[in-house]
Amino acid sequence: MSSLWTDGRAESASRPDEVDGVRTADVVVVGAGITGLTTALLLSRAGKKVVVVEARHIGACATGNTTGKVSVLQGSKLAHIACKHGTETLRAYVDGNTEGRDWLLRYCDEHGISVQREDDHAYAQNGRGISTARSILDACREAQLDAQWVDEADVPFPFAGGVRLRDQAQLDPMPYLSSVVTELERHGGTVLQGVRATSVSGVRSVMVKLRMTTPRESTEPDDTRDQYFAITAGKVVLATGIPVLDRGFFFARAEPMRSYCMAFDVPGDLTRPMFISVDSPTRSVRYAPTPTGEKLIVGGAGHPVGRSDDPKSAVDELTRWATLHYPGAVKTHFWSAQDYHPADELPYVGPLLPKLDNILVATGFDKWGMTNGIAAALALSSRILGGRMDWAQAFASWSPHELSGIPTALQMNFEVGLHLAKGWVTPMGTPAKRPAEGEGIVSGPPWNMRATSVVDGVQRTVSPVCPHLGGIVEWNNVDFAWECPLHGSRFAPDGSLLEGPATCGLS
Ligand SMILES: Cc1cc2nc3c(=O)[nH]c(=O)nc-3n(C[C@H](O)[C@H](O)[C@H](O)COP(=O)(O)OP(=O)(O)OC[C@H]3O[C@@H](n4cnc5c(N)ncnc54)[C@H](O)[C@@H]3O)c2cc1C
Ligand code: FES
Repeated sequence: MSSLWTDGRAESASRPDEVDGVRTADVVVVGAGITGLTTALLLSRAGKKVVVVEARHIGACATGNTTGKVSVLQGSKLAHIACKHGTETLRAYVDGNTEGRDWLLRYCDEHGISVQREDDHAYAQNGRGISTARSILDACREAQLDAQWVDEADVPFPFAGGVRLRDQAQLDPMPYLSSVVTELERHGGTVLQGVRATSVSGVRSVMVKLRMTTPRESTEPDDTRDQYFAITAGKVVLATGIPVLDRGFFFARAEPMRSYCMAFDVPGDLTRPMFISVDSPTRSVRYAPTPTGEKLIVGGAGHPVGRSDDPKSAVDELTRWATLHYPGAVKTHFWSAQDYHPADELPYVGPLLPKLDNILVATGFDKWGMTNGIAAALALSSRILGGRMDWAQAFASWSPHELSGIPTALQMNFEVGLHLAKGWVTPMGTPAKRPAEGEGIVSGPPWNMRATSVVDGVQRTVSPVCPHLGGIVEWNNVDFAWECPLHGSRFAPDGSLLEGPATCGLS
């Protein structure tokens, strides 16, 4: 399952001797998505020796599987921030995102990377969504954005009115990441792929421990071996989606949300501007130029990771919506990803623990990381280099503004507790049988629980106990993966770790 952006791109892991050759750095950046790579580039431009460590490959998680809208309008996000934090913080958030957007578009312009400048819309699908859309317009005005109300739009799907922000943008994120890697390496930076950071320790300087899993030369299909390395650095930036260190409790302050995207070949005209509905179910629409012609991209069907009984039916419904309103549309790509919804609506960018400046994090972009990720990179690099971003208070990882997120965080963690209990009890009554093709079943008593799946005719059984904090995984019948409903770690059918706060796979 490749996204439109990653389809056909070769993935290459670093060689063990390349990893072994890197022992020290000024800064280790963990994670080669838009946030990590942009932070690494900014630091290397300033003369820092930077090593990027990536568990899988460049763009493997959210960035390579995004919808790729570069917009400050951001659906109903601004209305939520206005409601929780007031004008000053809202303006700081918008300033950071505007600077992130402009930096990215300037970079693309200077490096010949294709970007389409289009208007963006946050719209109501029917009368019930109008008040939300109106509150977005109010928030835009409060933030001094020049947005307008539009009653009609030239679209084939239901549109009851919404907000338009002119001259935003959309892109394919992979040429951007590739260009950043090239420039980073020119400045002496290193990118190690297929290398997972498993722990970070130390106060003055920090030691990042790394694990590399490589196939053994044997005939067994899943036969691998682990090799261990370490890099000593002055600072570490965790740009891993959710931080992979539990200190700081970010896993309990942000909720992992998974969403699905698809690309279609469509006969006839495509919608030119970008649209996202503000009422349920979410419909996100844009077009994308490709070497074989323009495609329609549709996104939605989101759910908290591991908490949907049947993601496939929501994805099927989204497909039906697309083919109903774009007759003759033929699906060519399907992909999914997850991003983290922060309890207080604002991203967490800064120290992992208050006043401890040698381990920095960036998370909580709530599916708006094309601008937030760049803003985070600007804030983190200026923090490390001694500069200042006036808007950075809206992005702080520890700040009094978080008090407004406490009720949401309590609710989130109450639900985590319920899912923990449900996960350990429900499988007792589930019969252990061979699942149907594409399905997975957790069964057995707590002392002998098994997670069994069948994908492409291969039956695999692993432990369902998430190595992060003991959640019991649930099967995702559209991604064919095990998902932890507590904090969003994900695992392949053979138990190997895909993403999330866990740092090892299911046993
Ligand atoms: C379906 C979907 C659609 C979206 N659409 C949009 C959009 O249209 N516009 C927008 O602005 N935003 C959008 N977003 C959000 C945006 O894509 C993300 O916020 C952004 O890509 C996050 O980038 P990142 O670099 O912080 O994280 P990621 O891109 O997730 O990168 C994190 C990297 O860290 C690596 N990693 C994790 N753990 C370790 C470890 N222990 N050791 C080493 N490496 C590790 C991962 O493999 C990964 O490559 C969307 C998100 C989703 C889920
Ligand atoms: S991700 Fe935290 S327990 Fe599974």
